[in-house]
Amino acid sequence: MLTEKDFITTSYKSIDAASFEWSAPSNIALVKYWGKKENQIPANPSISFTLNNCKTITKLDVIKKSETNSFSFDLLFEGKPKEDFKPKIQKFFERIEKYCPFLKEYHFKIDTQNTFPHSSGIASSASGMAALAMNIMSLEKAINPTISDEYFYSKASFLARLGSGSACRSIKGEVVVWGNHAEINGSSDLFGVEFSEIHPNFKNYQDTILLVDKGEKQVSSTVGHDLMHNHPYAERRFAQAHENLSKMKAILTSGNTAEFIKIVESEALTLHAMMMTSMPYFILMKPNTLEIINKIWKFRNETQIPVCFTLDAGANVHILYPENVSVKVLQFIQDELVDYCQNGQYICDQIGNGAKSN
Ligand code: PMV
Repeated sequence: MLTEKDFITTSYKSIDAASFEWSAPSNIALVKYWGKKENQIPANPSISFTLNNCKTITKLDVIKKSETNSFSFDLLFEGKPKEDFKPKIQKFFERIEKYCPFLKEYHFKIDTQNTFPHSSGIASSASGMAALAMNIMSLEKAINPTISDEYFYSKASFLARLGSGSACRSIKGEVVVWGNHAEINGSSDLFGVEFSEIHPNFKNYQDTILLVDKGEKQVSSTVGHDLMHNHPYAERRFAQAHENLSKMKAILTSGNTAEFIKIVESEALTLHAMMMTSMPYFILMKPNTLEIINKIWKFRNETQIPVCFTLDAGANVHILYPENVSVKVLQFIQDELVDYCQNGQYICDQIGNGAKSN
């Protein structure tokens, strides 16, 4: 079992220059992470589907420099310099320097783009931090070629976590657990691990993301997680996440879609209930979020098609369903739900395999 100390790199050689490119997808949690301790340690374990189409593609050019006092990097977003992203990257480098002491020896050009529309309300921090972490691990592999594949991917997830907690679930697929859980072998608070006992019912599971509100996030996730400190229901909620993860483990293994729906929808509403009952309090759903939820319930009742919703910390709705009912569900979305989406926009995605080297 890898521990924090194992991720501190001590011996490595030097290279003059190199280029790497990785893509990493977004992910959608089934059992949610909400609340954290020091050093990006989650207050409870979570499990997510790794997505396939919503991803960040990041190219990293590395050049050796002589001065080693500070981090040095240029940041391009969609080919153009993007100064407002730089503080986040600077902070990320500061957090991971202990584990990657070679960073100050190089100048970096980070060239990044997303496959999903900018300001769609889809968080790019998970895919973005995961793609950057993979590139940094490619550099580590170049200067320390003996590292194993297991170490490479675990440390990538470990570094991504330090960038943005849920990013550690975007390295691998198709289903990833992050956070210690008594029933999940190898699970860790430090990095995400693949959960592989998946029933064929969940193969190619679909996620259609309805873009209800594309505005700036009302509550940043840093502020959001902080709301769980001194929250009146925090301890019960953290215990519930452990219980729901036990149930989800059995559900994913047995293929029970009816039970899957219950846990997934309850987790989404609980996440929002935590925000509504914190101090200060927030309502992140919009009227159209509720309209969509009610339409999904009605459609499910009438057709018995196992379609359900989940939410992240915003107004958008993720609709989850098996591949074999896609035609009917997409027709339902077209007929009854697009009117509730901003500019009629939605994104079709599905379960994917994690980060890829391009
Ligand atoms: O990774 P963060 O700090 O942006 O937090 C993400 C939290 C949720 O998306 C609301 C839930 C989750 O588990 O992904």
